[in-house]
Amino acid sequence: MVTATAGKTTKSAPKIRLNKLLINNEWVDASDGGTFETYNPSTGEVIAKVPHATTKDVDNAVKCARRALETGSWSRMDAADRGRLLYKLADRIEQEAGELAILESYNCGKTITDSRGDITGVINTLRYYAGWADKIEGRTIPVRGNFLCYTLRQPVGVVGQIIPWNFPLLMLAWKWGPALACGNTVVMKCAEQTPLSAMRLGELAIEVGFPPGVVNILQGLGETTGHAMVVHPGIDKIAFTGHVDTAKIIQKNAADSLKRTTFELGGKSPNVIFADADLNQAVEGAFHAIYFHCGQCCTAGSRLFVEEKIHKEFVDRMAEKAKKRVLGDPLEDSTQQGPQVSQEQLDKILGYIQLGQKQGAKLVVGGERVGKDGFYVSPAIFDNVKDDMAIAKDEIFGPVVSILPFKEMGELVERANNTNYGLAAGVWTKDINKAHSYARAIKAGTIWVNCYHIVDTNTPFGGFKMSGQGRENGESALEHYTELKTVTVKLD
Ligand code: NAI
Ligand code: MG
Repeated sequence: MVTATAGKTTKSAPKIRLNKLLINNEWVDASDGGTFETYNPSTGEVIAKVPHATTKDVDNAVKCARRALETGSWSRMDAADRGRLLYKLADRIEQEAGELAILESYNCGKTITDSRGDITGVINTLRYYAGWADKIEGRTIPVRGNFLCYTLRQPVGVVGQIIPWNFPLLMLAWKWGPALACGNTVVMKCAEQTPLSAMRLGELAIEVGFPPGVVNILQGLGETTGHAMVVHPGIDKIAFTGHVDTAKIIQKNAADSLKRTTFELGGKSPNVIFADADLNQAVEGAFHAIYFHCGQCCTAGSRLFVEEKIHKEFVDRMAEKAKKRVLGDPLEDSTQQGPQVSQEQLDKILGYIQLGQKQGAKLVVGGERVGKDGFYVSPAIFDNVKDDMAIAKDEIFGPVVSILPFKEMGELVERANNTNYGLAAGVWTKDINKAHSYARAIKAGTIWVNCYHIVDTNTPFGGFKMSGQGRENGESALEHYTELKTVTVKLD
């Protein structure tokens, strides 16, 4: 492991010009002046005190979003023009991509290479949904009797969107894209760890001409600002990405107003290597599956099932790669792994490293804190993991992989499916029969064959079981951002 620049600031920090809430196209402080701190995860330093939106601020944002939805220019705008605004926003983001990537890496700790990739994803997502805006159609339905019957797809209304810190701008785009294409208005709360990049996006949205109240961006903690959104009677739907336990709380609290909810939650995704796989590709792929963005990825391939025949060689090759991983300042192009996002996440991961050893798994490499100020941890490999150990069951959300040897397909499918989660799964083999049989048998929303983490905005994304409800991306997201209306007309 190379740790040349971990915890050291080698690049100059970006200037934070804007640090406010966005309500009705105005930049404001919290109504009570309250703030919370946000950090540079690479050094642990506080970089800004961010306005902490109160219940009153939430209420104000909801009222403005309602006005925009029902009486403002947004409510009268042609669908094609909504699409044009989304295209324009994508174009402005493309022009500002370099600056946005730096801000994202600075606040989130993701490598600059990953941030650039995220921003490409943001642009693709907004353009994809821009194209949908004037193609959201109903049907005419032949009914009994002399009636004309047709359906309309109309916006759900004011949507509350609560997003996490691992892909701040990309999660914003996944939520804004379909919501705005369908004509909804948005009250968004960013994760408290990563509030900054969304503010710049809000500026660009105003600049390209989104009318007041269409996108409102709040900052604050989940238990305060997020909760106030969930219980607000003026919000029609909550779209959430984050922890499964938070989703349970949200679903209970949303029940009183029977809000629509969609959830994209975590996973403990099985990634399976058969002995007949191309081993070079499989090692690369399994490594990327777990260590991409420090393992802070809902689809992380954290349960790595390896066929017994190749188990030892596979572990050795993974360990060799882990030892060479370059940890450092996320703003450096040469850095392969930045810090975890927060002290809280770092502590959680180090806790699991201890627990794994205590429960009898073998820590082959890594799992140590690197540096003393930033939130770095070296990539860890656990071997001899048993299916019932905590490290094989819980979402760790860090660079920690559990290796689980297996003998044959029958046993494997049962073990891979033995989890409450079902977000994603990978399989590496040259045998198409094995690949497709596995793809069909595994209970997960996304299956990757001889690849991993390939997520395109055009395809549905979401989970089976406790990994979520509903689907984001692709055409399927539109269903969750519209209400279906049936109109029946008597003909004489
Ligand atoms: P979290 O679920 O607490 O936070 C996600 C978002 O929900 C944040 O914006 C937060 O402010 C908000 N929130 C929290 N409590 C809320 C409440 N009671 N009402 C309304 N909104 C609320 O996740 P956290 O604490 O950041 O991370 C904990 C774990 O969650 C991670 O270790 C990981 O296992 C999982 N996670 C999964 C993600 C995914 O992509 N599916 C993303 C982030 C975290
Ligand atoms: Mg939390």
